[in-house]
Parts: sequence; structure tokens; C-alpha cells
Amino acid sequence: MAQTATAAQVKEKRIKKFQIYRWDPEKPDVKPHLQTYEVDLNACGPMVLDALIKIKNEMDPSLTFRRSCREGICGSCAMNIGGTNTLACLCNIDTNIGKATKIYPLPHMYVIKDLVPDMNNFYQQYRSIQPYLQRKNDDVKKFGEKQNLQSVEDRKKLDGLYECILCACCSTSCPSYWWNSDRYLGPAVLMQAYRWVIDSRDEETEKRLDRLRDPFSVYRCHTIMNCTKTCPKHLNPGRAIGELKKLLSGWSKKGNPEMSGQA
Ligand code: SF4
Ligand code: SF4
Ligand code: FES
Repeated sequence: MAQTATAAQVKEKRIKKFQIYRWDPEKPDVKPHLQTYEVDLNACGPMVLDALIKIKNEMDPSLTFRRSCREGICGSCAMNIGGTNTLACLCNIDTNIGKATKIYPLPHMYVIKDLVPDMNNFYQQYRSIQPYLQRKNDDVKKFGEKQNLQSVEDRKKLDGLYECILCACCSTSCPSYWWNSDRYLGPAVLMQAYRWVIDSRDEETEKRLDRLRDPFSVYRCHTIMNCTKTCPKHLNPGRAIGELKKLLSGWSKKGNPEMSGQA
């Protein structure tokens, strides 16, 4: 019981303030605002997601955010923490208890509620690049008879690309995407476009590149590299876009053996 705690135990508490963006479409009279919650770090796990779950479970069940795997695999807990787009489950709580940690939804996205952004446009853009293996029609029958093998070297070219969890931290940190997200595909989707363009098993490379040949889909990238800086999986979408531009311009041919291990 709280009243049985000794003065020493009370003194040991490490109270950390979290200021969290709140907006509820069902309360139109309440404007978006930051709500402050106080969490004892001695009674909380080390990650920002631990604090959010503690707040929701013990203080305010109305606080709304997405999460699932809590280990950096599903991408659903992406948000802006202390000014950086990242995954709440991989982000250590800043233990400086004198400084409040501010948490917002991913920037420049429509908000559904609190920390939940509307991902529909992002997923539509991902769908538009046809993110699946494509073979020529006359080859389809052979699939049942023969495996579609890939050399170790060609498989290695996909390292640093296939690990993307589509969290959208990169795209929503990109100034070009903020202002042109209706027509510019953004770093996350472009890195996946590149991933399928260079896959040695895919036979629709030219069609894939042709779909990207317009002034907006790729060329709104100005190599600012916010995307690469923020990626919580330490991937390099900025570089993938650079490689894609080279392929579009005819400057290089399909495949780039140096995409792995970057950051
Ligand atoms: S490249 Fe990184 S930041 Fe961008 S969607 Fe993939 S995992 Fe997230
Ligand atoms: S490198 Fe391109 S995609 Fe990445 S943040 Fe800059 S403009 Fe956006
Ligand atoms: S909860 Fe899945 S990535 Fe954070």
C-alpha cells in the first residue's frame, strides 16, 4: 500500500515527465495539445514503449498508440520522440529526469487519434511499386517444375534493403515528402522499388523503371539524407535512391554489390 512506503523509498523514486500529443476526433472542442504524465523510472522498463504502456495501463486508458512486437520488427510503434522519428520499442528513455520527453505522432501525416497516423497514402504508394517477384508469362509454367534459383552474389545485393520494416520513420523525416507526398514516393517506398529492380530473379526491370520516370516519383529527392540518419534499422534509403537515379539515367546497370552494411 502506498501509505506503508518509507521516506527512503519515496525518495528513491525517479519521476520522469512525458509530454504526449493528444487529439481525439470525437472531442472536436478540445484542440490538439500536449498532456503531461509522470512516470517513476524505477517502476518502468527501459524503453519509451514501456513508459507508454505503463501510462495506458495505470494512468490513462484513453491514450492511443500502435504497437505489436515490441522488438523492432513490426514497425507499428513509429513516432517522433524527443524530436527524432524512431521506434518507441527500440528507443531508450532519456534518464535525465530534469528534462521532459516530448512525444508526437510521425510528422506531416494526418492523425487518426493521439499517436496514431493515417498510413493509407504510404501503403498505397508501396502497392504502386508492385512489391513482389514478377516473371514473364511464358515462364510461369516452368515454376512448378524448377526452382527459381539466385546466386549467392545476387542474393547478397539485397542485403540492407529487404530488412526494411516499412515503419515510415524515413519518409516522414523527409522535407520533400512532407510537401509532395501525393506525388513523391518517399525514401521507404523508393528503397523497396530499388530492391525489386535489382532482384536478379525479377524480369520486369524496365517496366518497373518506366513507372518511376516522371518528375515527381523519384526526382523530388534532393539527397538531404534525413531518411538515412533517422532509420531505426540502420538502413540507407538515401543511398538506394541514388542508385535508383543512376539506373533511371542509364548511368549504371541493374545491381549494386555495395548496398549492404551501410548506415
Ligand atoms: S528504411 Fe528504415 S526508416 Fe524507412 S521504412 Fe524502412 S526501416 Fe523504416
Ligand atoms: S535523401 Fe532524399 S529521400 Fe532522403 S530525406 Fe533527403 S530528400 Fe528525402
Ligand atoms: S512494437 Fe513492433 S516495431 Fe515497435
